[in-house]
Amino acid sequence: MRKVAIIEGDGIGPEVIRSAVDVLRYISADLEMVSADMGQGSYRRNGSYLPQGTIDLLKESDAALFGAITSPTTYDPSYRSPLLQLRREFDLYANVRPVKRLHPSIGLVELDVLIVRENTEGMYTGSEREVPGGVITERKVSERACRRIVDKAIELCRAEGRGSITCVHKSNVLRRSDGMFREIFYERVKDSGLQGRDLLVDAAAAALVLQPRTQECFVTLNLYGDILSDEAAALVGGLGFAPSANIGEGFALFEPTHGSAPDIAGRGIANPIAAILSGAMMLRYLGMGSKAQKIEAAIPAALGQGIRTPDAGGRLSTTEFTRGYLEVLSTF
Ligand code: NAI
Ligand code: MG
Repeated sequence: MRKVAIIEGDGIGPEVIRSAVDVLRYISADLEMVSADMGQGSYRRNGSYLPQGTIDLLKESDAALFGAITSPTTYDPSYRSPLLQLRREFDLYANVRPVKRLHPSIGLVELDVLIVRENTEGMYTGSEREVPGGVITERKVSERACRRIVDKAIELCRAEGRGSITCVHKSNVLRRSDGMFREIFYERVKDSGLQGRDLLVDAAAAALVLQPRTQECFVTLNLYGDILSDEAAALVGGLGFAPSANIGEGFALFEPTHGSAPDIAGRGIANPIAAILSGAMMLRYLGMGSKAQKIEAAIPAALGQGIRTPDAGGRLSTTEFTRGYLEVLSTF
């Protein structure tokens, strides 16, 4: 029995996570799923965005599935993003975002790229200080972080049979930091059996649209990966299709890439595919690869049968989608 924490969060988080949990319950009896609280709703209920009880539960769990949270809209100097806190507390250094077109009638380009994003430093150090006339933001790039993110990307490419890996950076401007990242990339990739190349981040953004590739992997630093993965998701139909994982040494947190979508929250129309696919990534991480594969294979089949939420050109509600999808899944 593997123990997984389920954190629904805010907005459409509970709507899509309930759907993913239905799928996990259907496919596996070997998961003990325990609920935990986080986000704005948690702040209202418990006075904390990230209660200690949640951290304790995560420490006892093998993995977690998380929806999304709403960030405060007004500046509060005491606010610390609970997600960034978790990434730090559990050293979730690799943010893994597979972006794939799931049906020819959805999205704009034929793309299948694995984006592996450094998740602990870069522009996300949270270290900003005011100086006369402006603000200075610190950006950190360490050798260790470069090495481990490149090694994780190589490991994932091998496991998934991806033959080509691209280092995305901005070393023409950030010569020392990004230059070091690029050097470490070529050092590590040399004997990996993979075909390595590198692209400047602006060129990579254009290449996603103009020369989209399949079987591709981008390994990149924090901010570049954040932006490129939203772009890539938009190219294959939107954020409702983009799952992700935050992977550390002994623990991993899986979540749809999207946020809490306040514009559609409560209307029951959110696309749960990103959450369902995040659940599949979690099963693979827990060693249940064949179950993950079934969940993944049933998605294009369901879309092909017109089982779709409005963002995918359909008319089904989140729960109607889930019911239809589970019927398709039962045939796999
Ligand atoms: P968002 O991802 O919530 O929404 C962007 C657009 O995509 C919206 O029009 C939304 O309706 C649509 N969308 C997102 N997920 C969808 C789905 N599953 N099905 C159909 N349509 C979907 O990003 P936004 O609006 O910038 O942020 C909203 C809130 O979420 C903010 O408070 C933000 O800080 C937070 N956020 C949280 C994240 C997390 O918890 N990991 C990640 C990104 C944003
Ligand atoms: Mg983002």
